[in-house]
Amino acid sequence: MSDTPPTPAGDVWTVKRILDWTIPHLKSQGSESPRLDAEILLAHARGCPRIQLYTNYDQPLTDIQRATMRDLVKRRAAAEPVAYLVGHREFFGLDFRVTKDVLIPRPDTETLVVDAIETLKPQAAPRVLDVGTGSGCIAIAVAVNCQNAEVTAIDLSQSALDIASENAERHNVAGRIRWWCGDLFAPLSAGEQFDLIASNPPYIASAEIETLSADVRLHEPRSALDGGPDGLDVIRRLIAGAQSHLAANGKLLIEISGEQADAVTQLLTANGQYDEIVVLKDLARQPRVVRAVRKG
Ligand SMILES: C[S@@+](CC[C@H](N)C(=O)[O-])C[C@H]1O[C@@H](n2cnc3c(N)ncnc32)[C@H](O)[C@@H]1O
Repeated sequence: MSDTPPTPAGDVWTVKRILDWTIPHLKSQGSESPRLDAEILLAHARGCPRIQLYTNYDQPLTDIQRATMRDLVKRRAAAEPVAYLVGHREFFGLDFRVTKDVLIPRPDTETLVVDAIETLKPQAAPRVLDVGTGSGCIAIAVAVNCQNAEVTAIDLSQSALDIASENAERHNVAGRIRWWCGDLFAPLSAGEQFDLIASNPPYIASAEIETLSADVRLHEPRSALDGGPDGLDVIRRLIAGAQSHLAANGKLLIEISGEQADAVTQLLTANGQYDEIVVLKDLARQPRVVRAVRKG
């Protein structure tokens, strides 16, 4: 099948017609949500909300809109994620700009954010650290929902931090978030402490990356995914480093994959500085976050 719709022979390319062509095409190219993908791309090409497609089914596309749609469909058929194609993704009710420099925020990560907010809400002026901030989705969702929180966010990638700080401006929390570029806790001063440290680190085992869907494997930053031979390289260093930057009774929240709960619980226990180690499940009832409290 060609990557572009055939030239219409006298017929007009209306919204309905382009959807009718695009949905089976994207399905045949491996998309798991061809209707949603087609609608989001078409709404983007037309510069309208998705809902408006339904009330404009018979409206023809302009030549520019058709050309834009043709390009988007071609790229989507090559497994480019929809969020990169349209340049944004919703997370925790907020819209985040995303580029290939940042991991696309996942609904799974909302489990960590919910727990962080519950912990922070009663505190007067909590200090929060987000390690591996990417698009800034965790740091910004926390800052938006906890108006007294002072947030620090770190990432190895300056390009990711540029996107994250742009997102913070968009959500009016730039004044309460500091951005540092560097390896885990390296940008912090020795005595700097936090009431909560959150991280969604790279945690996929290197060999597993080749088994991921083409969307992720070919397009998302490897540095956001690769957790070393057993997926736990960064998590081990996080657990070791966080102990000296957590205040007494401060909380550590680490996102994990479903299979890592026992291993991460053991790492925290073996460290000796953490108590109240609990595994939190996501909406699909899969282990998703390990929480631990720094001993007082
Ligand atoms: C899985 S992504 C998470 C991004 C974002 N927090 C989210 O939840 O969508 C991991 C992030 O950690 C960053 N990272 C990887 N290794 C790091 C390190 N050693 N120090 C700091 N950041 C790191 C990557 O650049 C990437 O942005």
